[in-house]
Amino acid sequence: MSEMSNFVLVTRRRRHRNAKRNLFRDATTPETTREDDVVDRELLLRTLDNTLIEIRDTSFTKFVLSQLTESLTVLNSNGISEIVCYGLGRFSQYRSSRCQLALLLCLKARHANARVHVYDPVFRPEEVQVLRALGLEIIETNEEGKRIVHRDRTTLVYMPHCSRQLTNNLLYANWGDGLSNCILLANSFSGIVDNCLRRDVLCMAGYILRIRPYVTEIQLENSFAYEEVFNDLSIHIFTKQELLKAPADFWNSREEPRYLTDDVEFIAAAR
Ligand SMILES: C[S@@+](CC[C@H](N)C(=O)[O-])C[C@H]1O[C@@H](n2cnc3c(N)ncnc32)[C@H](O)[C@@H]1O
Repeated sequence: MSEMSNFVLVTRRRRHRNAKRNLFRDATTPETTREDDVVDRELLLRTLDNTLIEIRDTSFTKFVLSQLTESLTVLNSNGISEIVCYGLGRFSQYRSSRCQLALLLCLKARHANARVHVYDPVFRPEEVQVLRALGLEIIETNEEGKRIVHRDRTTLVYMPHCSRQLTNNLLYANWGDGLSNCILLANSFSGIVDNCLRRDVLCMAGYILRIRPYVTEIQLENSFAYEEVFNDLSIHIFTKQELLKAPADFWNSREEPRYLTDDVEFIAAAR
């Protein structure tokens, strides 16, 4: 089934049928949104409910949850206290994003005490409302992935199919032993390093390249029904024992990543 065959949530309304609503919408809709598109929030919530039912009991979800529990044991952590999610994409429009959001809701349910923060610059206002209705908190600024996780607790960072540079930025922001407070569910580091030109990895993902010898990567077998939703994802953990194996000066060189304008693979913050 093609991705666009799930393009069910955006309805078109004629201007003259609801002029008042259109006026309001025109004032708040981002420029990139087609003017007449309206997301039906109730329908979106119902569709998400169904997606959640579809995903909840799959072997993929069970595997992710069990591997996270195992990771917490290895990290000697007593639980995930925060979940940060970047780059879900437009879940009113795309099945992949919807399924990835459903997995996030499963993670939230499992780690019930964790606050969940989400951000994607392409979210539409109605999607933001739906996320809030689901109990998620919206990150209000474009952090470009550079969120510094808490030092005294464990944060799960979920970045499904986000660009290498966004992940690289996260590593840069937490470079040092603070990485051991972070569990990263994102595109496989070994995939990034092994399948890309070395020159590209150096320019776009230098921190991924450098941390690779010290990361523990748990590859997630892509057993989900739709191949494109969770492919190439891994859980990455950074145990203190492994981080201590890095040479003494390893952490000292920590320059903020700069990418050539033509190479930028994420939406940068307005400057
Ligand atoms: C390749 S798409 C992946 C979308 C979806 N997760 C999927 O797998 O289909 C990358 C996503 O990263 C988002 N993104 C770009 N810049 C970002 C930023 N600065 N912070 C968070 N997300 C960002 C994009 O808007 C897009 O939705």
